[in-house]
Amino acid sequence: MTTTMTESIWLNGDIMPLAEARIGVEDRGFQFADGIYEVIRLYNGKPFTLDAHLRRLQKSARDIQLPLPIELADLQNEIAKFLTRAPLRDGMIYLQLTRGSAPRSHAFPQCKPTLLFYVRVLPPIPEPPAAEGVKLLTVPDERWKRCWIKSVALLPNVLAKNQALAAGADEAVFIDNDLVTECSSSNVFAVIGQHLITHPVGSKVLPGITRQVLLELAPKLGLNVDERPFSEEEARRADEIFITSATREISWAARWNDRRVGQGRCGPITLKLHSALRQKIARETA
Ligand code: PDD
Repeated sequence: MTTTMTESIWLNGDIMPLAEARIGVEDRGFQFADGIYEVIRLYNGKPFTLDAHLRRLQKSARDIQLPLPIELADLQNEIAKFLTRAPLRDGMIYLQLTRGSAPRSHAFPQCKPTLLFYVRVLPPIPEPPAAEGVKLLTVPDERWKRCWIKSVALLPNVLAKNQALAAGADEAVFIDNDLVTECSSSNVFAVIGQHLITHPVGSKVLPGITRQVLLELAPKLGLNVDERPFSEEEARRADEIFITSATREISWAARWNDRRVGQGRCGPITLKLHSALRQKIARETA
């Protein structure tokens, strides 16, 4: 992976070289996956949709009963200060909050949360339509029922992703009772005619920030947004399928298991949405 020359980290208020940062063995993030995270895109040295990411962080924290150790406005300032030191233009911020370090016990301890963030270069994203389409593989959704929380407990996602890679695919699509929920680290959309269809967020789907941006852009492009569950069978008959996340923006799907998706090329609606997303990114990170 590409890295900045000397990567730094903000750890509980101190800035230090990433390689020197240490977290205790009894940090609950390590022992219990008792923590949450965010991945925020940086364009032109500026975080994209930072407010939305911090609001999601706040909600994840509240829903695991973890008081934020810092006001959101102060966290935003700390991120801004950190970014002025980091010579990074295009990449991502990884931010993680755990309940902190305490003698191992399932019961919530009295301890100071661990909060950290650092930035990392991302390889340039190939843009549709030139980008190759992704290959999707169906995997049963065996995750917990609080998928709206951006939890660091990602083992089912990691296993699903690697199952997809082992099968020669790029991303796993979770199927729950025949319904398409989301992917191992992205949201999934089907385009049927002028309808943009995606599973509602909540117990089975993370409220992806990229997803939300697209749902707001879609009606302006004349699309009808249907936030409803849809079956794998319906998805496979869709004109276009694409997946979204902060790191990948929009990737069009070329194949799903052993079948071609749509015409086997990046569809016109995916392209239109991607170009609208790019314009918003350019406006907001100029
Ligand atoms: N993951 N669904 C899941 C399960 C995810 O992990 C992600 C993002 C998304 C898309 O959310 P957003 O648009 O806010 O990035 C949906 C990040 C990128 C990750 O784990 O690296």
